[in-house]
Amino acid sequence: MAPPVVLRLENVTKRFGLFTALHDINLDIYDGEFLTIVGPSGSGKTTMIRLLVGMDEPSEGLIYLDGKVINRVPANKRPTCMVFQSLALFPHRTVGQNIEFPLKIRGVDERRRRARANELLDLLHLPRDYYGKGVMQCSGGERQRVALARALAFDPEILFFDEPLSALDYRLRKALEKELKQLHRQTGKTFVYITHSLEEAMVMSDRIAIMRTGSIAQVGTRRNLCQPEKPLRRRIHGRGQPVRCRGPGRRAVSGARRGYVGQRRPSRYRRRRARHLDGAAGIRPFPDSRGCRRLRSQRPDG
Ligand SMILES: Nc1ncnc2c1ncn2[C@@H]1O[C@H](COP(=O)(O)OP(=O)(O)OP(=O)(O)O)[C@@H](O)[C@H]1O
Ligand SMILES: [Mg+2]
Repeated sequence: MAPPVVLRLENVTKRFGLFTALHDINLDIYDGEFLTIVGPSGSGKTTMIRLLVGMDEPSEGLIYLDGKVINRVPANKRPTCMVFQSLALFPHRTVGQNIEFPLKIRGVDERRRRARANELLDLLHLPRDYYGKGVMQCSGGERQRVALARALAFDPEILFFDEPLSALDYRLRKALEKELKQLHRQTGKTFVYITHSLEEAMVMSDRIAIMRTGSIAQVGTRRNLCQPEKPLRRRIHGRGQPVRCRGPGRRAVSGARRGYVGQRRPSRYRRRRARHLDGAAGIRPFPDSRGCRRLRSQRPDG
């Protein structure tokens, strides 16, 4: 049986003056799932999650949370939290003050705030003595974890991540992807994650929604998106060849990453052309064959 729907967008449209950023979006987000929204720059990903967290109102359509319309419910009254791409930490405050901030504005007393901050430092593998450390003295990856800890501080039901790892180097990104996935398993919360990278989406998510110019082109699990009859998925994989996924789960994922399961590898000319098309569509291509070998040795556990 499918888990219950926590968030539902019904015919949601968002206009900025004459410009329509989102056209008639319909999407269900299930309780406890890890949903990733992938799409090129300007396709409306941030706009959509700003509506979901309550930072903006839709021009048309309805947003439901647990079956109730929440179009006009302000952000601080929703059980949601967002981790911004820029992290938006307070630079002159300590790690502890940053993590405790959402609790402080909700009137939680100091002793309980401190206890919760320590719990979160443990959860995110940061030493407890970082509590008093200035946030600007932390590395990029540590700051990323502080932003995550702050998002988790008041125990939101749904967490939104707007490309939180895009500024980090490859190694750190891979490590944090793994941690995010682990965190999702540990907490059992609903995660909605935005990225440009289909590879990142394939590694982490239960379901993937592909956005194109203000609408959702395709939604499905990693396996569904591997079906060869889906032309958009084929274009996004961008090798000019359909992927034939022969096994469930992990085999499907690693196959999709390689791009040519059960296929002859296309010629160099065709691969270059496909990469060019990916680039023109604003989609980050899969790594080349050397990258693939490296990736396969670091297989995700999901
Ligand atoms: N406040 C605004 N006023 C006018 N146009 C806006 C506003 N916010 C977003 N837009 C437009 O809406 C479109 C979608 O923007 P959005 O930020 O959602 O894209 P995105 O998919 O998140 O892109 P990126 O991957 O680059 O972050 C863009 O063309 C953008 O210019
Ligand atoms: Mg964005």
